[in-house]
Amino acid sequence: MLVRLLYVSQPVGPVTTTMTTLILEKSDKNNKKENITGVLCQGSGLWMQVLEGERSKVNLLYARIMSDRNHKNVELLSLEEITQRRFGKWSMALVYLSKDDPMVQMAHPEFDPYTASAKDAFFILDELIKTGTPIINTAT
Ligand SMILES: Cc1cc2nc3c(=O)[nH]c(=O)nc-3n(C[C@H](O)[C@H](O)[C@H](O)COP(=O)(O)O)c2cc1C
Repeated sequence: MLVRLLYVSQPVGPVTTTMTTLILEKSDKNNKKENITGVLCQGSGLWMQVLEGERSKVNLLYARIMSDRNHKNVELLSLEEITQRRFGKWSMALVYLSKDDPMVQMAHPEFDPYTASAKDAFFILDELIKTGTPIINTAT
């Protein structure tokens, strides 16, 4: 059974390139092995990540990510059963947004993922993917 999970968290301290590179390297290795795909959006003092895959595998990965000390306030926004992956091509894509990204600053200044509905969070995430600069790890 396939699921799609969405969570939000806050990095502890500044997010260095080394930290991001390490996360992407681990994601590339582990996610490919577990057939997990998704996207990690980074910017404005938060991470939002979508994980797609077999339910048990997604659960295990989410538990590992939750206990990662590089972030705090990890909050589950959505867990849904799916028939099709939305990010099937990416073992983990990173969408990097600078903190002065116009989308964040102007188009959706009110957006707070901690209070938003999952529907709104997915909507914003789709926009971030369109307007951000994706760095892609392909799934195959
Ligand atoms: C925001 C964030 C997203 C992460 N995403 C993933 C991921 O998609 N896949 C993954 O294997 N590890 C991810 N990690 C790293 C895990 O928390 C953990 O360090 C890693 O899976 C351990 O892998 P290892 O057992 O191969 O060392 C993420 C960490 C953070 C902080």
